[in-house]
Amino acid sequence: MASDIERGREAGDIPGIAVAMNAVAIAFDDLTVLQDVDFQVEPGEFVCLLGPSGCGKSTLLAAIAGFVELAGGEVSCNGERVKGINPHAGVVFQSSEALFEWLTAEQNVAYGPRMHGRGKAESRRIATEFLSKVGLAPAAKRFPRELSGGMKQRVQIARVLANEPRLVLMDEPFGALDAQTRHVLQEELVRLWQRTGCSIVFVTHDIDESVILADRIVVMTAGPAARIKSVYTVDAPRPRSRHDVAELYDRIQEDIRVEVARSLLNQGLDIDAGVTGAAAS
Ligand SMILES: Nc1ncnc2c1ncn2[C@@H]1O[C@H](COP(=O)(O)OP(=O)(O)O)[C@@H](O)[C@H]1O
Ligand SMILES: [Mg+2]
Repeated sequence: MASDIERGREAGDIPGIAVAMNAVAIAFDDLTVLQDVDFQVEPGEFVCLLGPSGCGKSTLLAAIAGFVELAGGEVSCNGERVKGINPHAGVVFQSSEALFEWLTAEQNVAYGPRMHGRGKAESRRIATEFLSKVGLAPAAKRFPRELSGGMKQRVQIARVLANEPRLVLMDEPFGALDAQTRHVLQEELVRLWQRTGCSIVFVTHDIDESVILADRIVVMTAGPAARIKSVYTVDAPRPRSRHDVAELYDRIQEDIRVEVARSLLNQGLDIDAGVTGAAAS
């Protein structure tokens, strides 16, 4: 794992940032979504957050981005407490509706640099550079409606990376794509990450995706009051084949199975997955 991080750092023009979550708690009205979340992301590390649907993965990501208030604890980046919107973070959402529909792919990517005060020509140059990095240079003049789902997600990634964030937060960015496109984008993302050296926190409910991508995988418990259940280190060198990580996949699946069952139980769906015994332990 360390060797990949080191490679990223050496190659990187964007030094990754460290994220520390200390006793993080988040509540919406009467609902305590997260409680006692403690975790550290190392600079340049690729971390996946994995957990049953509704456990609070997006909420935790939003807390790192500074989009939601904490009920307790703190999030800090390189030792500095995050207050308000996190200036280090770039966020990629699941929905490709996050793109500006009335701007071309190039204009979408150039938007960030323009907002950061870069000139028009310079911003266009940056946009071209980052669109090429995601293999989309030929589609620069197309509007989002003229792009496939996979291409739109590529534009979103280019748009975020064009701002050179030291921390990239991704919320199920490939969740809506077909398996083949998803696998291609996973490989591209790993290459981009290795080249930039930024830190990534990537939310997914897909175990397969997490073992292919991550340096470490954080498994969360079912909500409410979700917390971190276990943390796995993925030792397999990159690029990884699914065969390399099959054993780890099985271990995580076993670990998470109980949480998914508990989550369904909490929603009133009674299924028999050994959850009663587990809940009592
Ligand atoms: N803005 C909000 N207001 C009220 N409840 C919310 C809000 N955002 C999320 N929740 C609730 O918090 C819980 C966790 O949601 P979320 O973080 O989206 O889960 P996940 O991403 O793991 O599927 C869910 O019960 C959800 O309904
Ligand atoms: Mg979510």
